[in-house]
Amino acid sequence: MPLPQGPPGGRLSLFDAVNISLGSIIGAGIFVILGAAAAVAGPALVGSVLIAAVVSLLTGFSSAALSRKYPRSGGVYVFTREAISDFSGFLVGWVWLFSNIVGGATVAVGFGHYLSFFFPQLPTGVGIVIVAVTTVLIHLMGAKESSRFNNVLVGIKIAVLLFFSAAAFLHFQGANFRPFMPFGLSGVWAGAATIFFAYAGFARVAIVADEIDDPRRNVPRATLISIFISTVIYLVVAVAAVGVAGSKLLAGSGSPLADALGSIGMGFGSRLVALGGLAATGTVALASVLGISRLAQVMARDGELPRFVGRTGGTKGVPRNAVLIGGAAMLVLAFSADLPHIAYISSFSLLLYYAALNLSGLKVLRGGMRIVTGLGFVSCLVLMVNLPKLSWVVGAAVVALGALYQWGRTGRERSRRSDH
Ligand code: ALA
Repeated sequence: MPLPQGPPGGRLSLFDAVNISLGSIIGAGIFVILGAAAAVAGPALVGSVLIAAVVSLLTGFSSAALSRKYPRSGGVYVFTREAISDFSGFLVGWVWLFSNIVGGATVAVGFGHYLSFFFPQLPTGVGIVIVAVTTVLIHLMGAKESSRFNNVLVGIKIAVLLFFSAAAFLHFQGANFRPFMPFGLSGVWAGAATIFFAYAGFARVAIVADEIDDPRRNVPRATLISIFISTVIYLVVAVAAVGVAGSKLLAGSGSPLADALGSIGMGFGSRLVALGGLAATGTVALASVLGISRLAQVMARDGELPRFVGRTGGTKGVPRNAVLIGGAAMLVLAFSADLPHIAYISSFSLLLYYAALNLSGLKVLRGGMRIVTGLGFVSCLVLMVNLPKLSWVVGAAVVALGALYQWGRTGRERSRRSDH
């Protein structure tokens, strides 16, 4: 089945594309989930960050190669559909939508926590509603506007993480790294599976390939550049955070980076970092709704989701219904689960479709890329094994629901055709 082509000539530059990726990547993972990873890995958290980076890089290479081959909106949904089958493509798109809605909900909760850092009397729920409603409104204004806003927020969060690292290195204590692996190697792997959430989003730019200038060149570049930048930043931040505060303090905190600076009496610094936490979670929420709405639009165009989901509105052709549905679903989920479980569930479904992405790569890519995609596939499975059982149960239920929906839909189509 032919896939819809985007408008000729994209509107967003390579710089915008890298920022869409970084906007999706740097968020609750490094600002919030870092604490949960420290709880299971101890100071060896640094090793967990590195392992998660290698898994992301392997899948990032597959994604880059596939986006060069299929340079149009839809990302892993399009790759799987073209390389394997329409049915697997639908399932992957379905899991992708779920993962990003849960991921968006996770960062909305993170935003709520950071807002409560400034206003302790404010319930987390108020922050969740503020970020969800603002995100939806920005997207209803059109992609270019949200991209400019996103570029500014990405700049702010990177600057804050660099400030954090510089301030933390001034009070660095080597003793905080002893003992290095209190929970052994299994702790390091569990930490990698936990902190993997922080890298989620590197393939997001492929979802909006139609809106990018010269997608065949810029989408793969943006994918790899953004993984590289976030890996370097995360490693520096993880070393600095353990060095300044020790893994125990990080493990017990919902806003670990802000509390790390607070622990050495840097009140202003910790408030600045908390502000960065708001910007970071805000940009990821923005990117989540962007990805969800655009993929839902592509799937609706293909007839894989009800047509009204993909309907556009206004002069800028924004998929209004998909934006509104995505934002609402994010809001509901944010109120129904807590951190870090919601992050585990998101990471599991994320690894599931990254595994599918690598399988697609194994089918259509040639030469050395087959080794990369093979390793990418295995590495995704290894991280999945290290996630709690709850995420497996929810993941299996989501796949089963998707399969039932698709069988019902194709069954109805077949019987309609035979009636005519
Ligand atoms: N990588 C994204 C984050 O850390 C999902 O918030």
